[in-house]
Amino acid sequence: MISSLRADAFVESPGAGGRLDVRKAVMHDIPPILDLINGYAARGIMLPRTEFEMSEAIRDFTVVSLGGDLLGCGALHFYSPTVGEIRSLAVHERAKTHGVGRRLVESLVEEALEYELDGVFAFTYVVEFFQKVGFQVVERGVLPLKAWKDCLRCPKFQACDEIAMLRILRPQRWNEALPRSWGAEDQFIQIPTPRPIKTP
Ligand SMILES: CC(C)(COP(=O)(O)OP(=O)(O)OC[C@H]1O[C@@H](n2cnc3c(N)ncnc32)[C@H](O)[C@@H]1OP(=O)(O)O)[C@@H](O)C(=O)NCCC(=O)NCCS
Repeated sequence: MISSLRADAFVESPGAGGRLDVRKAVMHDIPPILDLINGYAARGIMLPRTEFEMSEAIRDFTVVSLGGDLLGCGALHFYSPTVGEIRSLAVHERAKTHGVGRRLVESLVEEALEYELDGVFAFTYVVEFFQKVGFQVVERGVLPLKAWKDCLRCPKFQACDEIAMLRILRPQRWNEALPRSWGAEDQFIQIPTPRPIKTP
């Protein structure tokens, strides 16, 4: 569990930023990450995660903690040799607007550069935050098709209102290998709707 006491301490102490620990997640981070993400998921802000999914994806995750208490998390997920997604980004309610989200994104971007990615994208409702950390709004069609696989289990599958945002990390390489847009410029992408298969 995230201790609200520690989160309050963070908010009340402006100098606390120096003691923040930004690191890759390990297995014991799974319960507090699930509490954080699924708390937001219950409010329709994020996709819910299970312990099984978290165990599979734990190496994607970076966390920010203070005195051993988890304040925020975020993940870098690879889609192609050049593009990754920043996702599952969440900061504890009581620690918001103190730079934790920015620290997480910068750490994930650093990781993306280490892995030689040319760009990272995100699907989000918090456009202004992502603009502040170097992303721009893009037409959905520039993102890899595989990026839509999570949409199939999203409750908003039929009425997605998330905004696609991109941060280009290596402009020259990005422009040379400009991904082919597979959606018409003025249209949303039509994702195939899954139908049950009739058995004879
Ligand atoms: C979005 C979120 C991760 C931001 O984390 P945070 O720690 O509060 O952000 P930071 O304090 O690092 O903010 C960085 C900048 O963005 C701004 N910002 C943060 N949240 C913002 C918001 N909702 N709207 C507009 N600007 C915002 C901050 O004011 C700050 O600006 P500054 O650099 O000019 O001072 C956090 O609000 C959150 O967990 N939200 C709920 C889950 C969610 O929506 N996740 C995104 C899924 S893609």
